Amino acid sequence: MGLKILTEHINVPDLHTIDVYRKFGGYASVEKAIKTLSPDQVLEEVKTSGLRGRGGAGFPTGMKWSFLDKKSDKPRYLVCNADESEPGTFKDRYLMQYNPHVLIEGMITSSFALGAHTSYIYVRGEMLYVVKILEKAIKEAYAKGFLGKNILGSDYSLDLYVHPGGGAYICGEETALLESLEGKRGNPRNKPPFPAVWGLYGCPTVVNNVETISAVPWIVVNGGAEYAKIGVGRSTGTKLISACGHLNKPGVYEIELGVSVEEFIYSDTYCGGIKNGKKLKAVVAGGSSVPILPASLILKNIKGENRLMTYESLADGGFVSGTMLGSGGFIAMDESVCIVRNTWNFARFYHHESCGQCSPCREGTGWLERILHRIEHGHGKMHDIDLLVDISKKIEGNTICPLGDAAAWPVASAVRHFRDEFEWHITHPKEASAKGAVFQGSVLQA
Ligand SMILES: Cc1cc2nc3c(=O)[nH]c(=O)nc-3n(C[C@H](O)[C@H](O)[C@H](O)COP(=O)(O)O)c2cc1C
Repeated sequence: MGLKILTEHINVPDLHTIDVYRKFGGYASVEKAIKTLSPDQVLEEVKTSGLRGRGGAGFPTGMKWSFLDKKSDKPRYLVCNADESEPGTFKDRYLMQYNPHVLIEGMITSSFALGAHTSYIYVRGEMLYVVKILEKAIKEAYAKGFLGKNILGSDYSLDLYVHPGGGAYICGEETALLESLEGKRGNPRNKPPFPAVWGLYGCPTVVNNVETISAVPWIVVNGGAEYAKIGVGRSTGTKLISACGHLNKPGVYEIELGVSVEEFIYSDTYCGGIKNGKKLKAVVAGGSSVPILPASLILKNIKGENRLMTYESLADGGFVSGTMLGSGGFIAMDESVCIVRNTWNFARFYHHESCGQCSPCREGTGWLERILHRIEHGHGKMHDIDLLVDISKKIEGNTICPLGDAAAWPVASAVRHFRDEFEWHITHPKEASAKGAVFQGSVLQA
């Protein structure tokens, strides 16, 4: 087992209480930052760490923070994105449920670095139990002097609020989230201007994922250089991976970036292999929106090199033979999975969650869903397969926010890697639409 930064004490009873959290050095980063460092020094540590956003895009956090408009005399905000709604991703809720203070500590230290005096945690609407846990923990932090006026006797003050969303996937997109936080319908905004310049209430704002912010306390206490030593290349630090599907040991794992995909799936340290001794058919490595890969391409890249759990290694081969680490939602599928049915299921989700602002996404997601439905149910035509690819291409890159891309990539990649399975559905409509029927073609021998 590698180093654990976020989950080392996660199984300690009552870790969610401030007294237990403090026993393991909790809130040391707030003391260190406020008493001994300047906001810019905290920012420098985060830059040095190489920490990248854990919400999906992997953007360097220190760089994002340095874009914040410091010349503006408007208030600055830090907003934590705890909307976590991507199918296959369930790491943030796990962290907030069992270790809420690591996020609150990260919010305080990060807000100090950014010069924010009011900050928000925007939580997915369905996770009301998490809202309650966070509110209780925030109350404890106020009582101990880590929040509120003149934190630890300094001249730095911060108020922290939890805001439950309405339960819409689109509100995870950072500008839709800001609209929703302002009390409006959660429609993504046109960019630029980016939130660093025009964010919450038109003020400079940083939006970061739960896991990103939770890594900041360790970085501040141990130094950015120490964090940068963990991992491989530009994939520094640890990452929470929520593993699900046909695995012997599904769950949330904190890995040091750089573990091989093979080790992650098959070793007993992590997922313990595929359930019931079946063969691995496909993997969605980073949440439903990243390209699906067949077993042969997820374990090794096209050059035959082992794939690692890093941003770069998973992306090797681009969209032709690679995928993305994304939010770390790792879905393993065994040979009993029908790829067409799975793709239709994802398409249904994106159609339902499209906000409807941009016509390529509003209309295109509906077309994808309907075409996949008819292929799966035995009414498809051969030209439907190319139509799926064509529609995906017309959505990709043509929308205000990346929800369109997120809807297009799973479909385009499924057709690219499992075309024979789509064709079999069309040439064998009766067999394919029968309950539980699965294509037993070449893909399985890959
Ligand atoms: C449709 C959609 C949903 C998203 N959902 C989330 C989410 O639930 N949580 C999250 O942190 N980022 C989500 N993102 C990414 C955010 O827009 C943003 O990039 C992220 O919160 C930035 O934080 P980071 O730099 O710490 O990763 C989503 C993006 C899109 C397009």
